[in-house]
Amino acid sequence: MASYEDVLSLSVRRGFIWPAVDLYGGFAGFYDYGHNGVLLRRHWEDVWVESFLGLSDNYHLIDTTTILPEAALKASGHVDHFTDILVTCTRCGESYRGDQLLEAATHQEEEGLTAQEIDARIQELKIRCPNCKGVLGPSREFNMMFPVGIGPTGKDRAYLRPETAQGVFLNFKREFEALRRKLPMGLAIVGRAYRNEISPRQGAYRMREFLQAELQIFFDPATFGDALPFDAIASVPVRIAWAAEKDSSGALEIPAKDLVTRGLPSWYVWHLVQVQRFYLDTLRIPRDAFRLAELDDKERAFYNKIHFDIQVRQESLGGFKEVGGVHYRTDHDLKGHEAGSHAKQSVTVGATKLVPHVLELSFGVDRNVWALLDLSYAKGDRVVLRLPARVAPVPVAVFPLVNKDGIPERAEALWATLRKRIAAFYDDSGSIGRRYARIDEIGTPFSVTVDHETLEGKGVTVRERDSQKQFRVLEPELPNTLERLLSGEATFPA
Ligand code: GLY
Repeated sequence: MASYEDVLSLSVRRGFIWPAVDLYGGFAGFYDYGHNGVLLRRHWEDVWVESFLGLSDNYHLIDTTTILPEAALKASGHVDHFTDILVTCTRCGESYRGDQLLEAATHQEEEGLTAQEIDARIQELKIRCPNCKGVLGPSREFNMMFPVGIGPTGKDRAYLRPETAQGVFLNFKREFEALRRKLPMGLAIVGRAYRNEISPRQGAYRMREFLQAELQIFFDPATFGDALPFDAIASVPVRIAWAAEKDSSGALEIPAKDLVTRGLPSWYVWHLVQVQRFYLDTLRIPRDAFRLAELDDKERAFYNKIHFDIQVRQESLGGFKEVGGVHYRTDHDLKGHEAGSHAKQSVTVGATKLVPHVLELSFGVDRNVWALLDLSYAKGDRVVLRLPARVAPVPVAVFPLVNKDGIPERAEALWATLRKRIAAFYDDSGSIGRRYARIDEIGTPFSVTVDHETLEGKGVTVRERDSQKQFRVLEPELPNTLERLLSGEATFPA
């Protein structure tokens, strides 16, 4: 189990992620990545792209601007509805998010309340300013987008994008024409989004600038379900927390087909199963640390008709926390842009003319990186990050046992050969024990040590991070052996 301080301290010590601009006293809600953090994040993104764009040969990556004009975000609903409730102290002027103030007092979720309802709850619970005990309120809606003035006068109003999704919707028609004019069509962006969070006090969980990986799947609701191989997943137990029960610390295991019986569309459930597979099978998150949590009418985002949060339990953040969502956005966005731009968004597929509906698979990349750090962190007589090999920043380390007797030269030559196939890392500084400790802390699954026996033609030792066991491999066999271990095709000899 890892505390927030455990994860942050490892993260800083080993070059993963830390609060930005600390030279100037910090910059709340902004985080920077170090060299290992970038590698971990890129590997997560690679696995994400492979897993979700691999669902169809008509799913593709695009890239769009991070600043959008006001007209587009008015049409999407963000100018009017992308708000949180802001509560300000009448004495010290400190700002709070209404739901967070209430949650701190009641220890339960208080989402989806209006400003008036929050004022009433504050009175009822006699909540005072946590900073100075002053009187709070009245509450008001606060738009979370960062405004940007474009051009020398700044009079053309724009915003930093609050989600990558809008870039996809604005390009839907062009891509539909450029591709094969087929539905379903998926367009994904991995890129930055920005939200002016009122009080980003939850460390790396609530960031004002963050990375999203979002796939928007455009489909015809009349045919989407029939085109998916639902039977193959009908009996898969899905870990669900219903809206009424999601304050609990667990989840129910419900067969996919029963979720359909309870009213969820089969295409929606099929994607819930794909998301669950990504976490449990690809990222190897422990089963009981994963769940899909339903949001009710009051809680879900204004553009969603069905909304389940993807949640991962993280001790450093106090329990289950959202790392993404599965959102049925209907035709809300394309219809909104059609009305705002007067450009038709309908397409003709076969005999049907329609404005496609959208299923969004949305992931907070930084939140996923933090969740991996949290869940992989293990502390006993040493600290070790038990990251899955696929996402570990460095898959293999090469060490000379000692820096004499021609051993470093042999180890460097081996490293040079290995690097042609595996992104291996070489380290000859400090004792071998310290070098093992360093790579354990960055989650490197395997390390190779060149010793005196190597010089006698007896091969090298391969050490496994989690068990610390070692076995010998002849040098010509090393690249294949490591590749098989890293891919999971082979397991470490017992
Ligand atoms: N695009 C959905 C979200 O930002 O949560």
